[in-house]
Amino acid sequence: MDHFTTTTAASRRMAGCVIVGIYESGEPGKGAADIDKAAQGAIRDLVKAGDLSGSLGEARMLVALPNVRSRRVVVSGLGKREKFGVAAFRQAVAAAITALKDSKTRDVVNYLALEKVAGTGPYYLARYTVESVGNALYRFTAMKSGRKDPPPAIGRIGLAIADKRDRGAALRGAEHADAILTAMTLARDLGNLPANVCTPSFLARTAQRLARELKNVTTKIVNEPEMKRLGMNALLSVTAGTSEPAKLIVMQYKGAAREAPVVLVGKGITFDTGGISLKPGPGMDEMKYDMCGAASVIAALSVVARLGLPINVTAVVPACENVPSGTATLPGDIVRSMSGQTIEILNTDAEGRLILCDALTYARRFKPALIVDVATLTGACVIALGHHLTAIMSNDDQLAGLLAEAGLAADDRGWHMPMSEEYERQLKSNFADFANVGGREGGAITAACFLGKFTEGLRWAHLDIAGTAWRSGLRKGATGRPVPLLSEFLLRQADALP
Ligand code: BES
Ligand code: MN
Ligand code: ZN
Repeated sequence: MDHFTTTTAASRRMAGCVIVGIYESGEPGKGAADIDKAAQGAIRDLVKAGDLSGSLGEARMLVALPNVRSRRVVVSGLGKREKFGVAAFRQAVAAAITALKDSKTRDVVNYLALEKVAGTGPYYLARYTVESVGNALYRFTAMKSGRKDPPPAIGRIGLAIADKRDRGAALRGAEHADAILTAMTLARDLGNLPANVCTPSFLARTAQRLARELKNVTTKIVNEPEMKRLGMNALLSVTAGTSEPAKLIVMQYKGAAREAPVVLVGKGITFDTGGISLKPGPGMDEMKYDMCGAASVIAALSVVARLGLPINVTAVVPACENVPSGTATLPGDIVRSMSGQTIEILNTDAEGRLILCDALTYARRFKPALIVDVATLTGACVIALGHHLTAIMSNDDQLAGLLAEAGLAADDRGWHMPMSEEYERQLKSNFADFANVGGREGGAITAACFLGKFTEGLRWAHLDIAGTAWRSGLRKGATGRPVPLLSEFLLRQADALP
C-alpha cells in the first residue's frame, strides 16, 4: 500500500476520502472541527439531531459537504476522550474503512492521527493506521469459484501529521507496517486455507517461494528419511498415521555478519484430529488452524527480510498432520526424542509438544542467541486467557518481559504466565522419563514445562496462541497474530525503531 504524509487541514485536502472523528461527548476531534467549520456546522447539526453518537465502532460517510475539497468524509466515533487509547484508535480506523470499503474510494487520509493517543507518537500512529486499514480490507476468496468481487479500490493511505518534523517517523512507521501487513496477510491466508490444500508440502513450497522472492533468505527442507537419521522419533510418532509426508522447514535470514541468530520455532500441524485420542466432531474443522504458529514465524522472518534488518533470524517449522489410522501412534506408546529423553505418549492429542520438542533440539545447531516457539498448543490456554491475550512462558523472566512489552507496543498483547517445578512434576511417568500430558489443571503451563525439558541452557520463550490465532463464529478466520508482536520484538532486537 502506497503512503504519504500531509499537514494540510482536513477541509483543504483533496482525497477520495478523509477520516475524522468525534467523541461521545459530541466534541469533535481536530479534523472534524476543521471540516465542521468549513461546512458551516454540518457535523454539529448531525450530532444535535442525534444522527451521530460518537460511540466507538460507529462510522458514517458524508458526501459532498460544502467548502470541503474531498468528496467523501467519514466521521468515526472515538468513544470517551479519557479512554481514547491505541485499541480505540485502531477500532475507529477499522470502522471508518468498513464504512467506505464498498465505495470507489482510492485514497484515504487519516486525520484521527492528530488526536492525543496515550503512549504513542507519529511512528506508531502511522503503523497502527496502515495495519488497521490493511486488516480491515482483508478478504479470503482463494477458494470461491465464479466471478469474484473486484478487490477494494483503496491503494493509498495518507497520514495527517501536526508538524512537518514528524514526517520521517510517520513514513518509517508506514513502511514497517507495510511489511507487517504483507506478512499478516500471508499468515492469515495460510491459516484460512483448508488442510487438503495447506499440507506440510504446501508450507514447504511457500517457504521456498519466499526464499526466491526475498534477499538473503535461504530455505532448506528436511524430509522423513533424514528425520529418522537424526532420531526425531517424537515428531515421527505424530506423522505415523498419515500418508501425507512430514516436512521440517528451515528458513535462514542473514542480515548481520557473525551474530548468533534469533531462532523462531512454529508448530505446523496442518490438521489436528487428535489422532487415536480422537477429538469430538463438532468444530473440528477449526483444527486446520493448528499450523498458525508455523505461519506466524515464517511471516515474521519475512518482515525482517523485507525490511533488511541488521540481525540474523532462523525459522524452524516442524510440519505434519495428526490423524488416526492402523499405523498411528497408540496411547501408551513410548518414543525416544532426538534429545535422547524418552516420552510416554499418554494422549496422542498432545501432539504439538511432540513435534516442537524435536524441532527445539534441532535448533541447538544454530547456536541461537535466543529461541521463541509459537504454537496453538492448548485448549487450556483459551480457558486461562480467553481470546484476547497470548500466553508467554519462559525460562528467562527478562525475555518474557521483552515479549510482553513488544506485544503491548504492537497492540498484539501477551501475558507472562508462571512456570515452576510443581507444574513440571505433573508430567511424571511410571514408564518413561516423562509423559506428554500433565492432567487438566494448569494445562497451558504443563505444556510449556514439557517444552522446557528440551531447552535447558538456552534462552527460550514459548507463546501459546491457541486463543489469539483465529476467531470462531460469524467472523471465523485467522487473525494474523502474533505477527505484530514478533515483528515488534525483532525490530527492537535490530534497534530499528526511531
Ligand atoms: N491444537 C490443540 C490445542 C487447541 C485446542 C487449540 C483447542 C485451540 C483450540 C492441541 O494439539 C491439543 O489438542 N491439545 C490438547 C492437550 C491435552 C490433550 C493435554 C488440549 O488442549 O485439549
Ligand atoms: Mn492436539
Ligand atoms: Zn494441536
